[in-house]
Amino acid sequence: MCALVDSWLPGLKKAPGLYSSRLMLRPIRVADADEIRESVNDRRVCDNLSYTPHPYTMEMAESWVRNVNYGMANGTCCYWTICDKKTEKFIGSIGLSIYSEQEGCEIHYWINANEWNRGYCTEAVKRVIKYVFEDKNIHRLYVTHREHNAPSERIIKKCGFVFEGKQRDGLKRFGKFENVMAYSMLQNEYLAMKKNGLY
Ligand SMILES: CC(C)(COP(=O)(O)OP(=O)(O)OC[C@H]1O[C@@H](n2cnc3c(N)ncnc32)[C@H](O)[C@@H]1OP(=O)(O)O)[C@@H](O)C(=O)NCCC(=O)NCCS
Repeated sequence: MCALVDSWLPGLKKAPGLYSSRLMLRPIRVADADEIRESVNDRRVCDNLSYTPHPYTMEMAESWVRNVNYGMANGTCCYWTICDKKTEKFIGSIGLSIYSEQEGCEIHYWINANEWNRGYCTEAVKRVIKYVFEDKNIHRLYVTHREHNAPSERIIKKCGFVFEGKQRDGLKRFGKFENVMAYSMLQNEYLAMKKNGLY
């Protein structure tokens, strides 16, 4: 097991609670499965995810939560439930795939469609970016969106990721190939943005 996984492990068995001005990011639990199922079964959400099947059943949601917890225990991922900080209302999910050998992570997110366009995802992504680079000393954070996912593109650009290129037909989803747009942020770029007040 490499050093990064070792160093990540203490915070992994239970993803640390993270707070921002309106949000609480807390560890995903099996009790969230029903709200996860309801959110992800919505085609507006599901169609923009990379691998999630539709229809999305309760068994699938529970199995995903179990897999995520297994991945967290093994240092391969870290996922949070996004909630309203005051009411604890379920808003969505955000997570990281951890590529230990590269000292890198990839970020993933979705928001319940009833909560779109309130800035929640941007706020959650910025909070996880801060966690990754400041608390975890990660070197590189990677993110992708499908070419036509305009809200995700907007979030990625607002957060200051650098465009790397277009993966032509990089994803096959429901039988159709789609281009995937790839971006990254390095730790030194994050620190420079922080110095300039973006974070
Ligand atoms: C992508 C997603 C997470 C965004 O969540 P959100 O909480 O609504 O995001 P935010 O409110 O923080 O930001 C959305 C931005 O996109 C903009 N936007 C929304 N629809 C848009 C459109 N059709 N074209 C261009 N911009 C658009 C919003 O105006 C906002 O930008 P602004 O803050 O500058 O006004 C949400 O739409 C979602 O869950 N989609 C399905 C799953 C998904 O796509 N996951 C990401 C996979 S890469």
